[in-house]
Amino acid sequence: MTNLKINIDKLEGFVTKDTIYAFEQQLALQQGALLNKTGKGNDFLGWIDLPDGTDEALIRSIEEDARAIRGKADIYVVIGIGGSYLGARAVVEALQHNFSGLLDKSARKSPFIVYAGNNISEDYMADLLDILDKQDYALTVISKSGTTTEPAIAFRILRRHLEQKYGLEEARKRIIAITDKERGALKGLADAEGYKTYVVPDDVGGRYSVLTPVGLLPIAVAGFNIRELMEGARAMKKVVTTAKTIDENPAFKYAAARNALYATGKPVEIMVNYQPSLIYITEWWKQLYGESEGKQNRGIFPVGVSFTTDLHSMGQYIQEGLRVIFETVLSIEKPRRQILVPLEKDDADGLNFVAGKRIYEVNRQAELGTLLAHVDGQVPNIVLSLPQINEHNLGELLYFYEFACALSGYLLDVNPFDQPGVEAYKKNMFALLGKPGFEKQTQELRKRLE
Ligand code: PA5
Repeated sequence: MTNLKINIDKLEGFVTKDTIYAFEQQLALQQGALLNKTGKGNDFLGWIDLPDGTDEALIRSIEEDARAIRGKADIYVVIGIGGSYLGARAVVEALQHNFSGLLDKSARKSPFIVYAGNNISEDYMADLLDILDKQDYALTVISKSGTTTEPAIAFRILRRHLEQKYGLEEARKRIIAITDKERGALKGLADAEGYKTYVVPDDVGGRYSVLTPVGLLPIAVAGFNIRELMEGARAMKKVVTTAKTIDENPAFKYAAARNALYATGKPVEIMVNYQPSLIYITEWWKQLYGESEGKQNRGIFPVGVSFTTDLHSMGQYIQEGLRVIFETVLSIEKPRRQILVPLEKDDADGLNFVAGKRIYEVNRQAELGTLLAHVDGQVPNIVLSLPQINEHNLGELLYFYEFACALSGYLLDVNPFDQPGVEAYKKNMFALLGKPGFEKQTQELRKRLE
């Protein structure tokens, strides 16, 4: 039994049960292909075994390093892009105080986490340096390939900043590199400088790496329990890798439902949350599904919204725009905190009918009302629910999404573990920047931009 539940009742009238359950046999075969490593991309299946295959020694080492960083840094910079930062950010933001950065240092037992190398904005970097000039910090640079431009530029700048601020010896102690075990520029640099390193396993791709040191170290530095996260992933693994029916296997149900919807003219999936702290869970999910499925001119387009905020913007389109979308709601049954709506004597805003109720109850009725309104507006809804946001449940959720994504990619008959399309922008960027070896493309592209 898992805490995560999936409900597809609100697909009635859009796809028949038979259409969804017709995927069952195929899904059982694909589950076998994933476990026996006989399907597409089978050299990138190491993530399947992470929940129960991760060494106790590795977990302990991560916890020790996290403790040391917490002891000496007020700010912890995580440098990475795509799969090399989104998983950590998703979990950290889901669990941390919504205004963590504004809490008193004494109330914050862990460093405030900031992210770099996930964009090439000069303003972002300059603003970050303003902050790092004045605060004690440590950094972790994460790049599996060790050659990605965005984190490499950020690391050049921040490494130098750290060395100037603390001196070479202390700077080296404040840097941890997470990269390939032997290849790539980052590995060479880390060895030359003597940085502590962690390995991204060969057979784990970036977007499936949250349960490796890539995700675990930043999550532990932020003060969260990585053992419970792994425990949750383990509980989900037990179910999704063994259960062979759609009714028993939530990953089967999700993969079948979304592919049935896709086949009936719904190529856009909107992931909905009602907690701003879950925005980065959605961002991580977008990367996982977008990069895994969007190829060979196929794939469900993953979009994210945060309600009720976006009901006042995207809500209009969802209710009445082009009918090509379905929604998946990530519903949280119990919030962490409790606040009641106050009673007003003159009831000027007419809201006394909710006075005394928890804000959560208002949010919950907004969620249920929206679900019915959108279904009435011809937007089918899948509902994923978790009893509350904690490490265990997030572990379940992450593993559920990963396994369902692999299955769903196989249903679409694509390789869910590669990302060949990501190279196109890189080649053009290098050519336009005049990288040696790209001379011909440089001329061609510059001409096209005249
Ligand atoms: O999922 C992926 O493979 C990508 O999103 C990568 O994580 C991203 O491009 C960063 O790559 P790297 O870790 O090699 O710097």
